[in-house]
Amino acid sequence: MSIIEIIETKKVGKELSKEEIEFFVKGYTNNEITDYQAAALVMAICINGMTIEEISNLTMAMANSGEILDLKEIAPNTVDKHSTGGVGDKITLILMPIIASIGVPIAKMSGRGLGITGGTIDKLESIPGYRTGLDIEEFKNNVKEIGISLIGQSMNLAPADKKIYALRDATACTNSIPLIASSIMSKKIAAGAKNIILDVTCGSGAFMETKNDAKILSKLMKYIGKNCDRNVMCILTNMNEPVGYSVGNALEVVEAVKALKGNMAEDVKEIILTFGSYMLKMAGLGDNLEVNKTRIIKEIESGKAYNKFVELIKKQGGDIEYIENLEKFEKAPYIMPVLASKSGYVAELSAEMIGRASVDLGAGRKKKEDAIDSRVGIIVCKKTGDKVEKDEPIAYVHANSVESAEDGVLKVKNAYTIVDKKVKKPSVILEIL
Ligand code: URA
Repeated sequence: MSIIEIIETKKVGKELSKEEIEFFVKGYTNNEITDYQAAALVMAICINGMTIEEISNLTMAMANSGEILDLKEIAPNTVDKHSTGGVGDKITLILMPIIASIGVPIAKMSGRGLGITGGTIDKLESIPGYRTGLDIEEFKNNVKEIGISLIGQSMNLAPADKKIYALRDATACTNSIPLIASSIMSKKIAAGAKNIILDVTCGSGAFMETKNDAKILSKLMKYIGKNCDRNVMCILTNMNEPVGYSVGNALEVVEAVKALKGNMAEDVKEIILTFGSYMLKMAGLGDNLEVNKTRIIKEIESGKAYNKFVELIKKQGGDIEYIENLEKFEKAPYIMPVLASKSGYVAELSAEMIGRASVDLGAGRKKKEDAIDSRVGIIVCKKTGDKVEKDEPIAYVHANSVESAEDGVLKVKNAYTIVDKKVKKPSVILEIL
């Protein structure tokens, strides 16, 4: 078997065997297959797709490229959550401490930014000292001791995904259904949770632009889960505009902390309550979704959810002074307002354009080895349906140079469409599968 033959097979659109897929995954993980060969194969997969059999085999090969955690003893009723990616998507940072403080153990492995979508790990790393790279023992211990751990792919869990993920990001291969399904499900299978809830984002700022594609991806991930005896549920959410008000790493941490203290954007609240209520149900803590929602609100109001977040940050080495005093986060040196070009109502705030503008400011990566600037990003003050007055600030650009700020202002301005007539606020939760 040779990697060149495997690339050739996929290049002409033929099906790869289980053995060929395993050969590729093993060889790439062990550095026996080069980045350029892997990139060629990944591109061929992106263009020609994969059968359901190939996707299942790729998922299992990636999950088996490292250890598979067994959480039965420390967290038997854990529920894992993952988003297929979005702009301003800080839901994990808010939701997981809430659910952990209610008593569902959370053991979650998150990813870095991919394309224009942000990554929980990049966000967490904007908190000085926070360690995303724990070993398996420390990860399990944290879950046992404080009921929550949020880590990156530093351990030997699905290492193949870590490499392929970074490669896809740098080769325009992010929005491929087979690659997304196998990437997410390999991580979830390796991290050991029996119950998995997936936020399948859909719209201009997501990998799945249409509801139909989002449904195909959902069905695939549910199928893969079922074959591995995992309980998978998918919720389709709207990603035509950014989630909440901030886009950018430290800016999103600040918004998440405020949300945990009860100051939540409407769309964020809807996502938190919907996902949270289903997570409690999956964990066996109550079938009545409305009762579960009330429980979540109480957990926030009592301050317990925020305290759990502080406990998590402290446990993983983060400086909690930053959480307790959000002013400590270093600000970008240039903060420029974006002024409304006319009076009216926001008809569109393109998540895609905001995502691109934020990557250009330095909040995301263009090459896999790029460093990100945790200070930069965009705060949107007005969202779809909001009324605006000519020349009022509708957003702020946080940049590390004047040129970058000016460029960002133009891009953010172009992301807004303002019309004369009233516009209805869009639904956030699109479908539950
Ligand atoms: N999240 C992942 O973990 N992988 C993807 O491919 C997309 C989103």
